[in-house]
Amino acid sequence: VSKVLEIGIVGCGAIGNSLAEAVSKDFLREAKVSALYDLDYARSANLSRRLSGNTHLAVHNLETLINKSDLVIECASAKSSWEIAQKVIACGRDIMIMSTGGVTSHLKELSVQAAKRKSKVYIPSGAIAGIDAVKAASIGKIKKVILTTRKNPLAFEGVKYVKDRNLNLAKIRKDKILFSGFAIQAVKYFPQNINVASVLSLAGIGPRKTLVQIIACPKVKRNIHEIRVESEAGTIITRTENVLHPKNPKTSFLAVLSAIATLKQILASVEIGT
Ligand SMILES: NC(=O)c1ccc[n+]([C@@H]2O[C@H](COP(=O)([O-])OP(=O)(O)OC[C@H]3O[C@@H](n4cnc5c(N)ncnc54)[C@H](O)[C@@H]3O)[C@@H](O)[C@H]2O)c1
Repeated sequence: VSKVLEIGIVGCGAIGNSLAEAVSKDFLREAKVSALYDLDYARSANLSRRLSGNTHLAVHNLETLINKSDLVIECASAKSSWEIAQKVIACGRDIMIMSTGGVTSHLKELSVQAAKRKSKVYIPSGAIAGIDAVKAASIGKIKKVILTTRKNPLAFEGVKYVKDRNLNLAKIRKDKILFSGFAIQAVKYFPQNINVASVLSLAGIGPRKTLVQIIACPKVKRNIHEIRVESEAGTIITRTENVLHPKNPKTSFLAVLSAIATLKQILASVEIGT
């Protein structure tokens, strides 16, 4: 009998909870949750109780979690994802990174360190469609990548870049371009948009060449991401209208499903898609 994949989850918020439940329900034979870690212990303890009836899965530090896991899933924060990835890789474990924004400028080091330790690093597509085709197109020449994100003005509440410009979000009646520039700046000014711009940059032509436009759109309720890629292989256009996660309106439901699908791919014998 082959060993089940032991999964440690770092960050027990909206994504961590949904993932842990999916592992215990949908991958019962192939995988199990081996440890849970959150800076807020109550969160990991609560999740552990829900999964197992007691708190034994909740651990008090990252090192213990890594020791108990074959695969670590990071769904904590962009501030910590690079540090978490380095520690996991140093121990020769595999990692799935959800806070993609935190590793965007470290892709080279990530590959070097992972190769040295024979670790695998998984970065799911998250909340956008088209990463499969962007990856394929990048084998040839890509001339241009543009990401256009549309969100309800209220979704930008609390964003410093918007506050600094004294925009009254509640009063926006027509579509208003809040930002137009390269991904490298977009992820700095719009941390809530960080993961989509990051994964697109990593799959394509990098954060210094990927263009991003962010539009406050009073008519929309969902977070809408459009990608336009002009490449040697042709033009690729995708549009994703995301339903928001019921427990965290900053997170798209598709991002959670994308992580579960990545896990399914890790466990499967047949890989579908690029
Ligand atoms: N790749 C994507 O498309 C995508 C989409 C949505 C969200 N995300 C990212 O995934 C992450 C989780 O999202 P969420 O909606 O579950 O957020 P959340 O706020 O609901 O949960 C995050 C949890 O992580 C914990 N945490 C933060 N820093 C930690 C650390 N260093 N160590 C341990 N625990 C820590 C917090 O206490 C919290 O419980 C965020 O960084 C978010 O930006 C990625």
